[in-house]
Amino acid sequence: MTNRLLYEGKAKKVFETDHPYEVLVYFKDDATAFNGVKKGQIHSKGILNNAISSLFFELLDSRGVKSHFVKKIDERSMLVKKLKIIQIEVVVRNIAAGSLSQRIGWPEGKILPKPVLEFYLKDDALGDPLINDYHIAALGIATPQQLEHLADQSLKINAILSEHLLARKVKLVDFKLEFGMSDQEILLGDEISPDTCRFWDAETNQKLDKDRFRRDLGDVEEAYQEIYNRLKG
Ligand code: TMP
Repeated sequence: MTNRLLYEGKAKKVFETDHPYEVLVYFKDDATAFNGVKKGQIHSKGILNNAISSLFFELLDSRGVKSHFVKKIDERSMLVKKLKIIQIEVVVRNIAAGSLSQRIGWPEGKILPKPVLEFYLKDDALGDPLINDYHIAALGIATPQQLEHLADQSLKINAILSEHLLARKVKLVDFKLEFGMSDQEILLGDEISPDTCRFWDAETNQKLDKDRFRRDLGDVEEAYQEIYNRLKG
């Protein structure tokens, strides 16, 4: 059923299917960080991220969040609705870490009084800069109504995922989402995985995500596997 390669990204490939409105996403083991400066492979990452993302999309669907996810096809691929991606990366943060710690000087681990929502321009050549609603209006990449929908959905997703993960002894520190248009409708796209989220063990704060790769902490595959195991329960 798969045929032409439509697009190859840093961690995934997208293939055409026989259906004009559906594409196949194939998850690779390739890992990059710092806008592609650091490159490597994480053994079995593609299998784990496909499985983890599928579980999250199913959970969100059951709670009324519409995404591109149709079904998991095999170990490394999922069938999704074809989206025209909105050029915004939405980040939601519950605990200071990463670039937020650098930007506002809060130590990693300091709990934010309420979730912080950020928008980044999805543009590798510019290094995905932080932008606000005025930039988005100037660039014309989303209407105010669309942006409000992205914000509402992202905060709702945060609440659903945070609760689900905490019950499995994982803190959802922060995460990145992408959205796209499918027939006039905004759907959640991309993936939700240890590549795109920060997950910390609820008791020890041990990092169970891509920061282990970014920061050379070792046991990267084990961390991804641990997240899958806890979600599978
Ligand atoms: P940051 O602290 O580096 O800005 O990252 C915030 C969250 O976004 C973190 O969970 C990792 C995720 N993220 C991506 O998924 N892709 C990216 O390119 C970056 C920079 C972060």
